[in-house]
Amino acid sequence: MGATLFFLIGLKALVLLLRFEKNKKKKKKWKKEEQIQEHQQEEVEEAVNQLAGIPIIPNDQKSKSGVIFILERASLEVAKVGKTYQILNSDDHANFLRKHNKNPGDYRPDIAHQALLAILDSPLNKAGRLRALYVKTEKGVLFEVKPHVRMPRTFKRFCGVMLQLLQKLSISATSKREKLLRVIKNPVTQHLPVNSRKIGLSYSSEKLVQLQDYVAAASNDVNLVFVVGAMAHGKIDKEYTDDFISVSGYPLSAACCIARICNTLELKWRIQ
Ligand SMILES: C[S@@+](CC[C@H](N)C(=O)[O-])C[C@H]1O[C@@H](n2cnc3c(N)ncnc32)[C@H](O)[C@@H]1O
Repeated sequence: MGATLFFLIGLKALVLLLRFEKNKKKKKKWKKEEQIQEHQQEEVEEAVNQLAGIPIIPNDQKSKSGVIFILERASLEVAKVGKTYQILNSDDHANFLRKHNKNPGDYRPDIAHQALLAILDSPLNKAGRLRALYVKTEKGVLFEVKPHVRMPRTFKRFCGVMLQLLQKLSISATSKREKLLRVIKNPVTQHLPVNSRKIGLSYSSEKLVQLQDYVAAASNDVNLVFVVGAMAHGKIDKEYTDDFISVSGYPLSAACCIARICNTLELKWRIQ
């Protein structure tokens, strides 16, 4: 009887000890997760603070014609993964996406990131000829990116900034009131100047053009609006475009297609 009691007390103590150890491990894991989240948040804050780039638009360029880019169907979807909200991507969230019957291949925020860098880093933008830049997500959220924004170079920080934008609907420069990124109302056409020519781009278009000739033929009085897809598969909606062209005999990445457009306009406008 005494031995059984002693055994039971020992067993109970062992169970309590194991439970205590388990809780200790859990708390340690939570603390580590919290620290990672705090670190990520700090990184995003830093990236947001750096968004306000150096002014790049010389005043005398304002009167000249310019270009507008619209990135269509950008894969920028927010979801709660575990305890945190994240921008879904095919590398980090493949299991999560499959579990929700989604094709990981469709979740490619890197395409929009590279496309934005190609536009914002171009000499065309630095010369002040980028009039406006709009992005429409696959879910239909439309946002504006100010041409002088310094987009985060790394993908992780880019996703942090996009997450903040889609949750808060705008991101302002810390020192000023100016909104550097902001969600705006659809349709995008209401934000375009009246003298705009909207040109949709797709490899699938039957109208294959020589971009130099195409751009040379455009009047200097119109604002050229290029609509480029920022998705992995499918094509852009050509409903609101005035023309639908292919610029190469090869399927290009969005960033490569944009580089081609920027380069052609830089030659036309003699931007070195
Ligand atoms: C990765 S692609 C999307 C793939 C899609 N199958 C397509 O070709 O439309 C991204 C975007 O780049 C542009 N693009 C790619 N190749 C092109 C080409 N040869 N001519 C014109 N635009 C092109 C299109 O706007 C396309 O939506």
